[in-house]
Amino acid sequence: MTYSPSSASRSGTFKIGGDLEISRLGFGAMRITGKGIWGPPVDHDEAIRTLKHLPELGVNFIDTADSYGPDVSEWLIREALHPYPKGLVIATKGGLTRSGPDIWKPVGRPEYLLQQVHKSLRNLGVEQIDLWQLHRIDPRVPADEQFDAIRSFIDQKLIRYAGLSEVSVEDIKAASKFFEVTTVQNRYNLVDRTSEEVLDYCTTQNIGFIPWFPLAAGDLAKSGSILDTVAKKYGVEPSQIALAWVLKRSPVMLPIPGTSKVAHLEQNVAATDILLSDEDFAALDAEGRKAFQSTR
Ligand SMILES: NC(=O)c1ccc[n+]([C@@H]2O[C@H](COP(=O)([O-])OP(=O)(O)OC[C@H]3O[C@@H](n4cnc5c(N)ncnc54)[C@H](OP(=O)(O)O)[C@@H]3O)[C@@H](O)[C@H]2O)c1
Repeated sequence: MTYSPSSASRSGTFKIGGDLEISRLGFGAMRITGKGIWGPPVDHDEAIRTLKHLPELGVNFIDTADSYGPDVSEWLIREALHPYPKGLVIATKGGLTRSGPDIWKPVGRPEYLLQQVHKSLRNLGVEQIDLWQLHRIDPRVPADEQFDAIRSFIDQKLIRYAGLSEVSVEDIKAASKFFEVTTVQNRYNLVDRTSEEVLDYCTTQNIGFIPWFPLAAGDLAKSGSILDTVAKKYGVEPSQIALAWVLKRSPVMLPIPGTSKVAHLEQNVAATDILLSDEDFAALDAEGRKAFQSTR
């Protein structure tokens, strides 16, 4: 179903677990909550409109978490989109607790993770979660216990596929002894290249790499950045070049720009229309690496 000239399907497709096919440009549902990712959004109706617009723009991959709100993001997704359109893949996460705005503390005890999987099933109104990601490996709980719990969620068919967030290549290899790691969600954008090695590993293993913060929380959408010259050349917004760049960086790249506004969603999806040349990609890459090094 495509009502708009721009469609996320132009970003190409990726199969999670070699099975669940999605358009590579997805949607991050963290920003449809209140300030500090706490409580309801300032504009509930605009958040609902934004979510309802996703299928119309060909976006069929939504990333959320039990901790966004907490619960608020999952509730709004259900309110806007249930019964879900065929082919919509909803990924959620668990493993971070909330005790106030901007406070995030990991808890990886298996019984807590199981509770949160059950809560997400209920919040989203599904019998099985398409993709469940461990939000953080809890350093106070043996990693193997957390990975074994995830394996049991797959065995019990509570979740279909599993992924990790903010991990190293070693973490991915360790978790892979327990379950198939189908996605990795690490912070990544043109000017934050900390996870370059993890991205390269995911590319070789065909693991979906979900770069959170693809717009550096809006900083890469502002004028005056290193994206300006290329944006002007293509007659588009800097945010759109930031997204076009990550999409070209790897075939396993699954960006999930987050917004609470229909206009920004449409702008982000329109980034899939941009055909970034190899030369412009390479020039941006060099500039981005330079900017990243200068912050270290
Ligand atoms: N795994 C993790 O630990 C983790 C951590 C953080 C986030 N995430 C996930 O990653 C997703 C994306 O990360 P993020 O939201 O932190 O960063 P982001 O997508 O880089 O930036 C989102 C911010 O940029 C603004 N924005 C979006 N589109 C815009 C546009 N076209 N023009 C101008 N401003 C625009 C949004 O404000 P408006 O609402 O005003 O548009 C929002 O404040 C989240 O939604 C979440 O699903 C995961």
